[in-house]
Amino acid sequence: MRRKIVAGNWKMNKDLQQGMNLVEEVLSLSSPEDVLKIFAAPFIHITSAIEKVKGKNDYAVAAQNCHHLECGAYTGEVSAEMISSAGAGYVIIGHSERRNYFNETTSVLTQKVNIALANNLIPIFCVGENLEHRNANQHLEIVRQQLKEALYHLSAADFSRLIIAYEPVWAIGTGVTATSHQAQGMHNFIRSEINKKYGKEISENTSVLYGGSCNAENAKELFSCLDVDGGLVGGASLKAADFVAIANSF
Ligand code: 13P
Repeated sequence: MRRKIVAGNWKMNKDLQQGMNLVEEVLSLSSPEDVLKIFAAPFIHITSAIEKVKGKNDYAVAAQNCHHLECGAYTGEVSAEMISSAGAGYVIIGHSERRNYFNETTSVLTQKVNIALANNLIPIFCVGENLEHRNANQHLEIVRQQLKEALYHLSAADFSRLIIAYEPVWAIGTGVTATSHQAQGMHNFIRSEINKKYGKEISENTSVLYGGSCNAENAKELFSCLDVDGGLVGGASLKAADFVAIANSF
């Protein structure tokens, strides 16, 4: 059975106090225990966030990025080992903001996935087309390539540890959400691609999250789709009530 997950990607928002207030508020509100709630906090907040969720099986902490190499003279960078040693269990890799603003190429993403897995971090691997690709009806092909190029070198055992997030770039931070029809279409496609490469059991057990203007109003409809296993939420994860409402939308 694949897990239902709602992950809040805070991006570069919240100072330490604000971030910890948000975590505390989320913890104080009730949400289903079978939904894993993940806080993808800025690096510097991770240790404090982990303290707050310690011992709670339905909460976890993620990093939003990691460096692609083990260690070394890379001033300002943070390694997968550091994140893991702080107690985080997850790391977002391949977010379109990293691909676009920080020029992260497929080869770097592949290394990030490898180093994350080697350090017992579960990658939340993001895929998604931009508006031109969608308008040109190339979205399926783009996502197929993104999966294939960055992930298909993995063994079945390693692939089965991943979480996939479909984030159409045109829906991120725009207020334009994919329709449930568009989301289900892509999620079903992703699952069928995984099935082709890794077989039915792994494809059925891989959580595929939707991201892109997911909020308390539209989450119920999106999560009712057969192949949508939850959300990777940006803006709406910054308000405890909204984030919890999304977690209550299954
Ligand atoms: P928004 O929910 O703000 O559109 O952001 C989505 C996202 O990029 C999550 O990773």
